[in-house]
Amino acid sequence: MTRSLSAAALKAAEAVDGERLWKDLMHLSRFGARLHGGVDRQALSDADIAARIWLIGEAERRGFKASVDDAANLWIRRRGRDADAAPVIAGSHMDSQPAGGRFDGALGVLAGLEALTALDDAGIATDRPIDVVAWTNEEGGRFDRSCTGSSVWSGAMQLEDYLGDIGADGVRFGDALKLTLDATPDLPRRPRRFDAQSYLELHIEQGPVLEREGLDIAAVTGIQGVRWMNVEITGKGSHAGTTPMTGRLDALQAAHRAIAALNELMADPQDVVRFTVGRFNVAPNSPNTIPERVLFTIDFRHPNKALLDEKMGRIAALIEAAVAPCQASLQPTLFMDPKPFPESLIATIEGAAKDLGHPARRLASGAFHDALYAARVCPVGMIFVPCRAGLSHHPDEWTEPRHCRAGARVLTASAAMLAGA
Ligand code: GLV
Ligand code: MN
Ligand code: MN
Repeated sequence: MTRSLSAAALKAAEAVDGERLWKDLMHLSRFGARLHGGVDRQALSDADIAARIWLIGEAERRGFKASVDDAANLWIRRRGRDADAAPVIAGSHMDSQPAGGRFDGALGVLAGLEALTALDDAGIATDRPIDVVAWTNEEGGRFDRSCTGSSVWSGAMQLEDYLGDIGADGVRFGDALKLTLDATPDLPRRPRRFDAQSYLELHIEQGPVLEREGLDIAAVTGIQGVRWMNVEITGKGSHAGTTPMTGRLDALQAAHRAIAALNELMADPQDVVRFTVGRFNVAPNSPNTIPERVLFTIDFRHPNKALLDEKMGRIAALIEAAVAPCQASLQPTLFMDPKPFPESLIATIEGAAKDLGHPARRLASGAFHDALYAARVCPVGMIFVPCRAGLSHHPDEWTEPRHCRAGARVLTASAAMLAGA
């Protein structure tokens, strides 16, 4: 049987300490812990800042150098023999959904730190540096353009374009960013852009396939495309008891018609289209005033770009017709085309899983990840591990310790191989 891992990569993976990783995961989940489970650690919040300070301390305690760039992406470096070589990056995000779980994002960052620690414990040197990154605002729950940090790092977006964004809590992105950077004034600054040899991200699957098939690992083949949009409908507020039904400009009734029309557009007997209205704000939100304004979000995903473009091209006219005589204005907030991952990294991950004895398969990602943007800079690979009942973006999100360990082992071995161990 041919083995794809070097002896050093194998040794590094064997040094992964599942208990240490689990302890770190449970510790991180205290930052922003919700009373009834899960976490609320939204981007650049006090809880996120506290989590960052803890992670920096933990990295430095283990002898790694931490730094931050001006998008507040947090970097932790393990040196390579060639200090100037383009690094292998392993990372994910530490921000969460408003009612999020303990593993989404957190696992990828902490398993990255575990990989660096395991390499040290095993006494393995790599040619290239390995950087662990915690990207800023992957989730987009607070500031509703997601993957902010990775989009800036990749050069796809300019940081300046985000600064004026207003969060769900009314805070300006630029102010929250400043608060976050000011909280660690002595942390060395890293340039906004630099080259990388490859990018790896370990993540929970957030779907049911691995659990159903009793597998430990998926080598991710790519990520489906996603489009986000804010829809704002304007009507005319007035008294609920006195205003005749005819001639009303009720923004909520109009939004209801718009969503019904969108449901028809998105209907898919194959159940491949993903369509969600996840935010719905009504103003003035009073039982006895006709709604004057409604804002709702569209999250639309599909693996096929042509289908995404075709349906997106029809949305504006469809909404305008449905809301008349109210007015609608549409603002795209996220635009990501489907991204297939390179075969070489899929094979590296698959080979690592096989050599380490973890049953694996290939799987496409329904969720988006920072890897989508990293792919603009370097080859990317992702590793999935099972999560209970496929549940994610929910306080009950759960991944077994043995699966966290399996993912960290595959991540460590793959990073070691790519970094030249
Ligand atoms: C990521 O959080 C996603 O919504 O896919
Ligand atoms: Mn995530
Ligand atoms: Mn998420």
